[in-house]
Amino acid sequence: MFRKFRLSCLLIGLSFFSLHSVAAPSAKDAEGHEWWQHAVFYEVYPRSFADSNNDGIGDLKGITSKLDYLKDLGVDAIWLTPCYPSPQVDFGYDVSDYVNIDPLYGTLADFDGMVSAGKKRGIRIIMDLVVNHSSDQHQWFLDSKSSRTSAHRDWYIWRDGKGPGQPPNNWISIFGGPAWTFDAQTGQWYYRIFYSGQPDLNWRNPRVEKAMFDVARWWFKRGVRGFRLDAVDTMFEDPKLPDNPVLPGTSKYGDPNMDNKYNTKLPELHGVLQRLRKAADQNGAVLIGETWTKNIDELKLYYGGGSRELQMPMDLMFTTVNKLSAPEFRRQIAAADGSGGWPVYVISNHDIMRSYNRYGDGEHNDQIAKLMAGMYLTLRGTPIMYYGEEIGMENNDPKRKEDVKDPVGRVGWPVDKGRDGERTPMQWNDSANAGFSTADPWLPVPPSFKTRNVEAELKDPDSILQFYKHLLILRRQDPSLREGEYIPLSEDRPDVVSYLRRYKNQAVLVVLNMSGTEQKVSFDLAKQGFSGGKATTLLTTLSTHPKEVPLAAVSLEPFAVYIAKVTK
Ligand code: NOJ
Ligand code: CA
Repeated sequence: MFRKFRLSCLLIGLSFFSLHSVAAPSAKDAEGHEWWQHAVFYEVYPRSFADSNNDGIGDLKGITSKLDYLKDLGVDAIWLTPCYPSPQVDFGYDVSDYVNIDPLYGTLADFDGMVSAGKKRGIRIIMDLVVNHSSDQHQWFLDSKSSRTSAHRDWYIWRDGKGPGQPPNNWISIFGGPAWTFDAQTGQWYYRIFYSGQPDLNWRNPRVEKAMFDVARWWFKRGVRGFRLDAVDTMFEDPKLPDNPVLPGTSKYGDPNMDNKYNTKLPELHGVLQRLRKAADQNGAVLIGETWTKNIDELKLYYGGGSRELQMPMDLMFTTVNKLSAPEFRRQIAAADGSGGWPVYVISNHDIMRSYNRYGDGEHNDQIAKLMAGMYLTLRGTPIMYYGEEIGMENNDPKRKEDVKDPVGRVGWPVDKGRDGERTPMQWNDSANAGFSTADPWLPVPPSFKTRNVEAELKDPDSILQFYKHLLILRRQDPSLREGEYIPLSEDRPDVVSYLRRYKNQAVLVVLNMSGTEQKVSFDLAKQGFSGGKATTLLTTLSTHPKEVPLAAVSLEPFAVYIAKVTK
């Protein structure tokens, strides 16, 4: 029965898929939605996805070789973290040439090959645009630092110190220590909110904007269908450089805590985003933002009134809910859903501990991984998955300081072990190095790869991977999950998150048990227009696989997911 259900979903799902993939770039559906609103995005960290030439580092040909896997999983667009030429100080987030590919990852021809292979499969490619800073090895910066009068001097932020050996102000780097580096040759300091190898670009200089927009257009012409904009929050600084107010306490790097009032989220950045949006619209492209906002009002600003700025600012506040808390998730979902923009949900990425570890209790991690998927893949909005999340990959943090690759982990050790743990190679099978490479990979795979890998999970009908696949088929196939409004239910329940996704005269009910104890929930959906009294199961982790359940008494095993159709 279960198998039959799977097959029928698959068939319906695939027919929708092909319709979807031939649509014109800016085509809207009957609801006025564009392609990215119903797409499932998937973040690929190129170093760690698949290694085609067995040098221990993933590459573009490796990614191309896995496109069939991604298509089969139900992915519509890949966000590639930076694969531009780079000294790799911050593993690619220090770009030394914005219009090329680092030889580590391949060539522009490999890139073109990946784009066209993606196109054949209905998978779009989104690049990471590192707008806040370049590498200190970029030609722009090399010229900038060559003399105080160089053509590119004003492309970066240079200032005199407050006194000998003293930086221009008290601003602190996100990666620890002062946000300024002294350059002895020209006797001035340059501003860099990340590493010293990542000097901040001066967006007040119109030539910087023009150069970066040219970069964007260059990639649009090459077939890129959007950008994830790195570190947009910090694009602008107050040119007068006032000291930031100091707050009580110290950071994990031992710096004084600060209110980054004068160098974060300055209003000027919105003008840039509005202008970039115009270029994106001309190319049917989407702009995704790395937007670390404190509250929904800050997030709203990134959409811009009437969505004139980012179509998809990421709701990263969602990732700060670090434990299973029904009231907290309800609150976050309601805020994002009511923001007026199209919500974008993320539970893991290359900078934060994997969701498998963040939410897992050590005993029911697999069930909890399914629970999280059952939630963020059934909400109104666009999900961005992180590679390996679909197989329940876990963090593999370094055990010794000398093994740490991420410089953040070296500065923060042992309080902050850095981000290596969430960036380990994708686990494809149970052969050496999880089938990622025949060479020693740049980061070690955890021993659990023997059973936790794509090949094994494809064979196991009960695996996390199979659950993701069913969910993504359902999402694609069911108009309520694609288009329906979000109606929260059981709002007083401390351990259950449930909601209706209602579309015209249809609705899907989602019920999620966020606790390790059995829960019973009773629904009366007459007010919402569904007095049928029964729910017909679409997908569940309940061990009994009921075909239908009475709405008056829905029983949920610990951490269970129940998704069902309800009727009028
Ligand atoms: C955010 C990226 O996601 C992170 O990996 C990087 O270190 C910083 N921006 C600096 O580019
Ligand atoms: Ca390689």
